[in-house]
Amino acid sequence: MRLNQHYKAVKESYLFSTVAKKVAAYQQAHPGADVIRMGIGDVTLPLPRACVEAMAAAVAEQGTKEGFRGYGPEQGYDFLRCAVRDYYAEKQVGLDADEIFISDGAKSDLGNMLDLFDQDNVVLVPDPVYPVYVDTNTMAGRMIRYMDANAQNDFLPMPDSAADVDVIYLCSPNNPTGAVYDRAQLRQWVDYARSKHAVIFYDAAYEAFITDPELPRSIYEIEGAKECAVEFNSFSKMAGFTGTRCGYTVVPKGIGADGLSLNKMWLRRQTTKFNGVPYIVQRGAAAALTAEGQAQCRENIAYYLENARVMSDTLSRLGIWFTGGEDSPYIWMRCPNGMGSWEFFDFLLEKANVVGTPGEGFGVNGEGYFRLTAFGDKDKTAEAMARMERLFRQR
Ligand code: MLT
Repeated sequence: MRLNQHYKAVKESYLFSTVAKKVAAYQQAHPGADVIRMGIGDVTLPLPRACVEAMAAAVAEQGTKEGFRGYGPEQGYDFLRCAVRDYYAEKQVGLDADEIFISDGAKSDLGNMLDLFDQDNVVLVPDPVYPVYVDTNTMAGRMIRYMDANAQNDFLPMPDSAADVDVIYLCSPNNPTGAVYDRAQLRQWVDYARSKHAVIFYDAAYEAFITDPELPRSIYEIEGAKECAVEFNSFSKMAGFTGTRCGYTVVPKGIGADGLSLNKMWLRRQTTKFNGVPYIVQRGAAAALTAEGQAQCRENIAYYLENARVMSDTLSRLGIWFTGGEDSPYIWMRCPNGMGSWEFFDFLLEKANVVGTPGEGFGVNGEGYFRLTAFGDKDKTAEAMARMERLFRQR
């Protein structure tokens, strides 16, 4: 037996597992501490009513002879693929239902999609970055190039025409920084990818948080993107499905190389290695895309964006630099008093019992920064901000 040696190059523990372990150790040592979690971007509101009702009805169907369903189509039921297609049509994006693949979430698809790409491909990722892009490529031994995202470029790096790359990762609204690309910037990326015969992996998991109508919610709003971009999306953040698990990936039929079609390869891969998302869950996801479901999702998103506003106001009052929090559930703040990001993590946990995510966990450019999520409970978010206000007013 020989194991995959590339695992030696990945950090021993996934970022959010490391944070969870540190918090668990702190709580064990301080059992009475009222710890407020603003670390991992996990939702706190219950599922929209429309989703719950649709899933309850689907459970009942599964209990009848006529309604029972066993294995479903690995790529998703037509009712959900068509609902996603119609969701895109509202953004003036025309897709065929067979370009949409239902899965258990964007994280899995982002990793699994790499099965279709040669190990010699060079990938380009921003730094700081959602760790999954880096870890999955490192596990496969692929060469990674980094592009700096920093305060100088508003955490929105742009293409360097001199560099040759094959796979480009973009995430907008960005995790972890909350920065959002505008149309002109995305057009530059699409032109660049096409000129290099590269593919863009576009992570749109937070698109539902965009309220500014001028900002693009899908890369396919940009002409030419269907020839070069795969888009990943999820019901996790839009409809609170982090525990329910459902996402989808758009693989346009226009992308291919060497006589191979990416769409056909992904279908082949999914039908071989995946048995699909439960029927009950897909019914819940489809309900999130109905007019009623969308209204309920928007209400939940407005709640989180209000948390973000409270957090932004607090940081502004304290004179702490930050970005994000508008059109995004993440706030990316500079650690006060020149602290390092893990140093600030420990400091905030100890002095205020508030948990965030150290920027350094997202890459070297994250050192000195800290990510807070707006996905928390409203009262707890307000309490966390009051604690921060007390802490930094005193200093
Ligand atoms: C995060 O906190 O970055 C996200 O919740 C992670 C994820 O969606 O997998």
